[in-house]
Amino acid sequence: MPDLSFPIRVGIVGAGAIARTSHLPALLARGDAVKVVAVCDLDPGRAKELADAYDIPGRYTESTDVVARENPDLIAVATPPVAHREAVITALGAGAWGWCEKPPTLSLAEYDEITAYEKDGGPTVGHGIHQMDLLLNLLGDWHEVHAVAATLGRRTETEDVSFAIVRFACGAIGSSVNSVMSPRETSCLRFDFTDATAEAEHLYGHDNSHWRWTPAPHVSDTGRIAGWAPDENTTQLAFHPARHAAGRHGSR
Ligand SMILES: NC(=O)c1ccc[n+]([C@@H]2O[C@H](COP(=O)([O-])OP(=O)(O)OC[C@H]3O[C@@H](n4cnc5c(N)ncnc54)[C@H](O)[C@@H]3O)[C@@H](O)[C@H]2O)c1
Repeated sequence: MPDLSFPIRVGIVGAGAIARTSHLPALLARGDAVKVVAVCDLDPGRAKELADAYDIPGRYTESTDVVARENPDLIAVATPPVAHREAVITALGAGAWGWCEKPPTLSLAEYDEITAYEKDGGPTVGHGIHQMDLLLNLLGDWHEVHAVAATLGRRTETEDVSFAIVRFACGAIGSSVNSVMSPRETSCLRFDFTDATAEAEHLYGHDNSHWRWTPAPHVSDTGRIAGWAPDENTTQLAFHPARHAAGRHGSR
């Protein structure tokens, strides 16, 4: 892995929607700490368009050329999943970090190929990651996981349903269900505390308005219950780079 020296030189592989609306704005928000040196896409027009928009010097159609000519510290892989394995291996093989979009690979066999190149750290995981990220953010590190994965309805090499029971280091216990087979798509989080149940239900993005809570019968202090409303974190929302770039989700 590269030594940590600044600016971190980044090559973006895949110049589509997620690169444009999330990766680039997030990287550029790091200011002088990060320099995006190249954009790579199978479609040279897309690479050029994104590179022109952000005045990025390198434009390529092959990730191998990015690592050969630009000496990047990090390759951000934002291609469709079918191309993740190759781009991540190209990055790791050249001694760069690989930062991969989800899902990391199409199969466990591909994932094993990637880990064979890994020395430290690894790609991010797949479906349901956003809810799991939020769980970890709220409850802290996990300690123990029991999981079952199955392919029940899709002709894929990966699972289309997974269940996990997670014990967190803080002592909390959670269950996680991920399914790409649910006709009514939704993301639900539910936390049962001694004094209240707190829940959020949303699809592809949540804010404070999605949360609701139910006090336990023994909790009758209305002032305390009113204080459970999530703070309007307007500062964070106002400066969220992906929000600005995408111009979506509205403002609260
Ligand atoms: N984290 C999130 O919230 C989130 C949201 C949407 C998409 N994604 C993930 O991001 C990835 C990309 O999704 P997208 O919506 O931006 O797709 P997209 O189709 O808009 O863009 C993908 C780009 O990659 C290019 N590409 C394909 N194969 C390539 C290769 N071998 N080398 C270089 N470029 C190649 C395509 O030409 C295209 O321009 C997917 O893995 C998707 O699952 C993540």
